[in-house]
Amino acid sequence: MNKKSINYKNPGSSSKTRFERVHTEIFDDKKNAELLIATEIKKLIVKNNKKNKTTVLGLATGSSPLGIYKNLIDFHKNEKVSFKNVVTFNLDEYYGLKKDHKQSYHMFMNQNLFNDIDIKKDNIHIPDGTIDKKHIYKYCVEYEKKIEYYGGIDIQILGIGKNGHIGFNEPGSNLNSITRLVKLDYQTRKDARPDFNGIKNVPTSALTMGIKTILNSKRIILIAWGDGKSEAVRKAVELRKNIKIPASLLQSHNNTTFILDNSSSALLTRISQPWQVGQLKLDNEMINRSIHWLSNKTKKPILRLTEQDYNQNNLSDLLVDKSHYDLNVTVFNKLQRTITGWPGGKPNADDTYRPERKKPKKKRVIIFSPHPDDDVVSMGGTFDRLVSQGHEVHVAYQTSGNIAVSNEEVLKFVELYEDFFDESSNFIKELKNLLSDKKKIVKDNRVRKLASLIREKESLAATRFIGLDDSNVHFLGLPFYETGEIKKNKPGLEDLKIMCDLIKSIKPHQIFAAGDLADPHGTHKVCIDLLFNSLKQLKKIDFMKDCWVWLYRGAWHEWESYEIDMAVPLSPEQVLKKRRSIFYHQSQNNNVMFQGDDEREFWQRVEERNRAIAINYNELGMADYQAMETFKRYYF
Ligand code: F6R
Repeated sequence: MNKKSINYKNPGSSSKTRFERVHTEIFDDKKNAELLIATEIKKLIVKNNKKNKTTVLGLATGSSPLGIYKNLIDFHKNEKVSFKNVVTFNLDEYYGLKKDHKQSYHMFMNQNLFNDIDIKKDNIHIPDGTIDKKHIYKYCVEYEKKIEYYGGIDIQILGIGKNGHIGFNEPGSNLNSITRLVKLDYQTRKDARPDFNGIKNVPTSALTMGIKTILNSKRIILIAWGDGKSEAVRKAVELRKNIKIPASLLQSHNNTTFILDNSSSALLTRISQPWQVGQLKLDNEMINRSIHWLSNKTKKPILRLTEQDYNQNNLSDLLVDKSHYDLNVTVFNKLQRTITGWPGGKPNADDTYRPERKKPKKKRVIIFSPHPDDDVVSMGGTFDRLVSQGHEVHVAYQTSGNIAVSNEEVLKFVELYEDFFDESSNFIKELKNLLSDKKKIVKDNRVRKLASLIREKESLAATRFIGLDDSNVHFLGLPFYETGEIKKNKPGLEDLKIMCDLIKSIKPHQIFAAGDLADPHGTHKVCIDLLFNSLKQLKKIDFMKDCWVWLYRGAWHEWESYEIDMAVPLSPEQVLKKRRSIFYHQSQNNNVMFQGDDEREFWQRVEERNRAIAINYNELGMADYQAMETFKRYYF
């Protein structure tokens, strides 16, 4: 969407936005949105500067507003916009952090905005995280009074937490809350974990402006980027306002705009079920998607959907050109043709409607696995079939995954070495000492190397079990990952070169890769972007014309049924074999380091997921399989 400015509109004012309770704008290009928001701020500053009037800004920290701050700095440098008359109030600060702490919001604001504009130091207000507990109440009341003194906040910028928080107003925060000390939610602390190198270093409380403080602002702009925010955004925009989703309380404000990108808005009804708001683009993808939805909603297999089902569920538009019967058959056939036991193509069979080509009979295949285990966790059954059906399969582990090996696990091997060789050198003592704290992430190169080796050996055990020769297993050790901490570097040319070199040396007919686009900062996303960039670079080379790319989903979620281009059924025995291959990754069993909220082991999660998709296929009208692994084709 290309816009010149963001003007407030009544929420739900068109049929397209009828489920939305707060004014929401969606942008294809995040950069464009950031520029427009910064421009709105600039215009107000320039207007007020002319009258010698103060502009009061409410500011947020975190990744969301960074682009806006960059634009403001550019306006200052290139257009001489002065911030001398600007007064700022930050939303929050971690309690217990000094101003010069690397992760303090004081530091963040200085580094990302204040150091590069001409704002007066006295005009900057950020809650002080070092205030003595005894004086906090008074301090917070004064913070409120200062905002009032300046006539209230003109424009308040907000991000949104995955749990729907605004500022550090966590779920349960009261509509009447003002600036105060709060306990941080587990989710919030977990999200901050990479910055603090482990959850135990993340502060447990913070000072934050209240919901009432925020709602008193004259204009509020909430920004949300990336899939990670889509659920919180949906709830805040479409559910009735409630304190469990603090951002939903913004619905009571009469000049609030939510600015979203395509990913963060993906779950809004106008995007996820456009037929509900009369915005049905009748292309094949939409027809397919809406009929899968209809089948799930009515709990009827596709072939049993009636004309009435279409009419009663806002899908009558589909019946203008085709009968419901024709639509049912088309969508049913399309789904049925995704199912194949021959993920590398079935030799000597008619492949007109099969997901893969029959030729060449023996394909060269690369399975890219972001961590050493995603290959078996996400596509262990398909991997096994590709090998047993005679293809030349290569596995490429993109990162070492060494951060996910616990100190206890590494210590086990150090002690084994010590006992076996009866060697208690200083070197061993040092390692044991470094590993003595179970929870601390040890940056030391030797420890990280050992952790990498543990994962390499586990991977080889698993790939041998599947029947792969060691020479077909490639440990790429992409450098962006090797920081020795949770936070990774930005991927660079070296990472790209390693990927391209491997592809060029194998000349694959098929590439399988983890298509997890959900977490914008996660390793899977970096790995898939590196693949996409490699494909862009290599596209023109001859052998690439024969290369098809299939995306699998990692341990966390599944493709929607309508997105799937290839579904490989697994028999009960194959499910067990897959489980065994996952078990070889011993360091990742038994409640691993980065388990997330889900207490189940990886093999359990994935078995349940593979089962769930088979049940879903069955409910849509397909045969009853034990489990399925699914793939989406990526065209480059
Ligand atoms: C930051 C703040 C938080 C963040 C929110 C989103 O001052 O108050 O509410 O806006 O947690 O954080 P990011 O933008 O890092 O996703």
